[in-house]
Amino acid sequence: MGFTFFFRDFQTLDLIREYVLPVIGLRRYINIWSAGCSTGQEPYTIAILLRENMGPMLFRNVKLLATDIDEHNEYGTIIRNGSYPAKELERIPPEIFKRYFAPLPDKPDYCLIDEEIRKRVEFQQHNLLKLIPVRDDLSLIVCKNVLLHFTEEERVNVLRMYYHALNESGFLIVEHTQKMPEALQGHFEQVVPYAQLFRKVNGRK
Ligand SMILES: C[S@@+](CC[C@H](N)C(=O)[O-])C[C@H]1O[C@@H](n2cnc3c(N)ncnc32)[C@H](O)[C@@H]1O
Repeated sequence: MGFTFFFRDFQTLDLIREYVLPVIGLRRYINIWSAGCSTGQEPYTIAILLRENMGPMLFRNVKLLATDIDEHNEYGTIIRNGSYPAKELERIPPEIFKRYFAPLPDKPDYCLIDEEIRKRVEFQQHNLLKLIPVRDDLSLIVCKNVLLHFTEEERVNVLRMYYHALNESGFLIVEHTQKMPEALQGHFEQVVPYAQLFRKVNGRK
């Protein structure tokens, strides 16, 4: 099972709030891809961040596509259920936890995520190395702690697929250790020098 947890990376969340949301929040439909999402903690964290910074009407236009190769065919069920062991939720800021999680009545050591959040996250089993994007009008792609599993050539191919799957000037976030490969230098601009947040440069192949 892919190692992951809620609110894993506060810096990424701050970057989304500061640089990504002011741009994508102006769009009518906001499609986000959490690629290599494991059991869903990453897309659910992003959904909560968006809801915290958006009115309920606009939030209904958000769709978070959560995908993973999901070798044991179980991530979809976990994500659709939206319930997680209470012990794994300790990192969540307490006021957020209170607003979006409630213990399951018949299983109090598990907590269920609020329905408003669950409705925005949709899981698909998907192998990134097939190089077929889940859609081609994405405002943001988050792909963290996944690219390190690939060869340099695979990374270039997957990042090129992301380039074409983003809408005009869409955003991409990858893990800190991933530098943009030479082959794609003109395709993305780095938004801040201290983090791997990129913005698509339009018109490249
Ligand atoms: C360490 S988890 C990262 C989870 C989440 N992105 C995070 O950072 O917390 C890595 C995930 O990448 C997925 N993965 C590995 N190869 C993949 C592929 N070819 N296509 C899709 N997902 C893949 C694994 O199944 C695993 O769930």
